[in-house]
Amino acid sequence: MPGTPDYFSGKTIIITGAASGIGRATALIFAREGANVLCADTNEEGAVRTADEASEGGGRGVSVMTDVTSRASIEEMVKKAKEAFGRVDFLFNSAGAALRRSPFLEIDDDLWDRTFDLNVKGTCYAMQAVLPEMLAGGGGVIVNMASMSHRRGGPGTTVHYAAAKGAVVSMTLGVAREFADQGIRCLSISPGPIDTPFQNISSPELLQSFKEAIPMGRFGRPEEIGEMVLFMCSDACAFMTADTVYINGGGGFR
Ligand SMILES: NC(=O)c1ccc[n+]([C@@H]2O[C@H](COP(=O)([O-])OP(=O)(O)OC[C@H]3O[C@@H](n4cnc5c(N)ncnc54)[C@H](O)[C@@H]3O)[C@@H](O)[C@H]2O)c1
Repeated sequence: MPGTPDYFSGKTIIITGAASGIGRATALIFAREGANVLCADTNEEGAVRTADEASEGGGRGVSVMTDVTSRASIEEMVKKAKEAFGRVDFLFNSAGAALRRSPFLEIDDDLWDRTFDLNVKGTCYAMQAVLPEMLAGGGGVIVNMASMSHRRGGPGTTVHYAAAKGAVVSMTLGVAREFADQGIRCLSISPGPIDTPFQNISSPELLQSFKEAIPMGRFGRPEEIGEMVLFMCSDACAFMTADTVYINGGGGFR
């Protein structure tokens, strides 16, 4: 997939939300390519598990307990990556969640603030902490996790989350353009429903209606996002920055 064989060998990626779902799958894909993977998550046990699997899977995995809503915790995360691997080449901000469903009129300050702290501030803090390292190292690639929901708006259930992911798309655009002439690329991915614990839908009817809205008739697999992160970080993708890429089985624009 990369233009150069062994392109990822010995390079370092920091992945937030690496204990589960898309972050975990992406960690294992980068390990397969021989990369160093710093696995960051509030779920320490899960991060350790992913790091161990990354080490068994061809790369070098190290874990760190990180809460992306805290600048201090993010700074520790970057320090740990540098201590373990010497440099940071890539950052994948996968940590994120809708936290809970709520009709728009019932979204209170607490839900609004926590959603933006996690999805928007968390992504911002990680970029601000990593960019100086990347600039000092001559460049790097940042991939942020947005969502199809920023196109749909989340009516009835998740306007708070859709708005936060819209902010991630805008922030990605701005950072990409601000640093485009300094060796930095910054992209986002906007998936439709992906089969991870995030989609913990208890009602079989709701689950079926979600699948019926997708022309391919199924949810995506976390690996199908991870492979896109790998492509985006590779030298096969050198002229691409700022945009979001939709991965959704053909659906989700309702
Ligand atoms: N699964 C989907 O259908 C889907 C669709 C579109 C976008 N997304 C986005 O993809 C990203 C990954 O989601 P997923 O499906 O892998 O979900 P997931 O629940 O499997 O994984 C999310 C991970 O983030 C971690 N996390 C939560 N809060 C954190 C914090 N404050 N600091 C550090 N880590 C924290 C969790 O512990 C968990 O390991 C999220 O940003 C989500 O919004 C998911």
